[in-house]
Amino acid sequence: MTRAQRKRDHIKYALSTGQSRRTGFDDIEFVHQSLPDTSLAEVSIQTKIGGLSLSSPIFINAMTGGGGKDTERINGQLAVAAREAGVAMAVGSQMSALKNPEERQSFIIVRKLYKEGIIFANLGSEATVEQAEAAVHMIEADALQIHLNVIQELTMPEGDRSFKGALERIERIAERLPVPVFVKETGFGLGREAAEKLAKLPVAAMDVSGFGGTNFAAVENKRRANKLDYFSHWGIPTAAAIIECAAVDGGPDVIASGGLQHSLDAAKSLALGAAAAGMAGTFLKVLMDEGPEALRDELFAVHNDLKLIMCAVGARRVTDLRQAPLIIKGETFHRLHVRGYE
Ligand code: FNR
Repeated sequence: MTRAQRKRDHIKYALSTGQSRRTGFDDIEFVHQSLPDTSLAEVSIQTKIGGLSLSSPIFINAMTGGGGKDTERINGQLAVAAREAGVAMAVGSQMSALKNPEERQSFIIVRKLYKEGIIFANLGSEATVEQAEAAVHMIEADALQIHLNVIQELTMPEGDRSFKGALERIERIAERLPVPVFVKETGFGLGREAAEKLAKLPVAAMDVSGFGGTNFAAVENKRRANKLDYFSHWGIPTAAAIIECAAVDGGPDVIASGGLQHSLDAAKSLALGAAAAGMAGTFLKVLMDEGPEALRDELFAVHNDLKLIMCAVGARRVTDLRQAPLIIKGETFHRLHVRGYE
């Protein structure tokens, strides 16, 4: 199977596998405030992650690139929607384009169509410093995401089988790169143990990319005959992952992703301590099912709804959401208790 075919399969199966919604967000509830003392006009959704100022905490998370004309078209449409809504955008892994210059166009299109945008480059933790510099240079990126994907690799028959030295490579890249380095999971969730290791490095932000949304173990299991079903149910649900990462003393900024479907999920993420909220599968589905204008409208709607929710709970700024009283119920409450959180 060619790499382009695999990329197309990933998009197809990621959409058809869908999102299990086992993120834990349904266990989190804002406590209604009858006297919030806010007006919608003064609500601001600006935020900062890893030293970058963003006009919105919502962003389009890493998805695709390198799969030929199809991914070039999808990335172009994502970039135009991101530009029109003024949100940041990550590209998918650029490793294939570093190895095969013909694949660069599907990434470069993003910067070409979104010149003023905040754009994140993306590579796996196998990358060298030189590859990281080249990926950033390719799209004049404002930050680099380094993704961790142990479970997807193990579920792929042709996937990696050694994950040694990732932390050291991330450290070298973060020390040398002129732009902030974000470390992200890919749908299995960053937990306390990983976050504590990353907190010791000059990493600017960590994207929890938790369980409950797009599930690459389930996607890979669709592609293989002898299925590793146990990995389809593996991972730290997003709500718990945010809480674990945000609790790390002196840790990097926390970014929420993994199964976010709407502004209420984003608002809960920000209330749990995230500084930004990324969506991949949800936005891809809107784009593929309804087209680029629908994605732009969806981004506008998410912004409007987020402002309404912030107004309702008395939050003028994104960071004020952290003071909003929350109820944590069910499995998420249980998990946190077992893990020793109050
Ligand atoms: C992804 N994701 C991803 N992540 C990454 O760091 N590099 C990549 O190349 C890709 N590729 C990719 C392709 C497709 C089709 C999808 C849907 C997703 C993972 C993505 O950024 C995110 O971490 C997970 O999808 C979980 O978030 P959602 O989709 O539940 O919002």
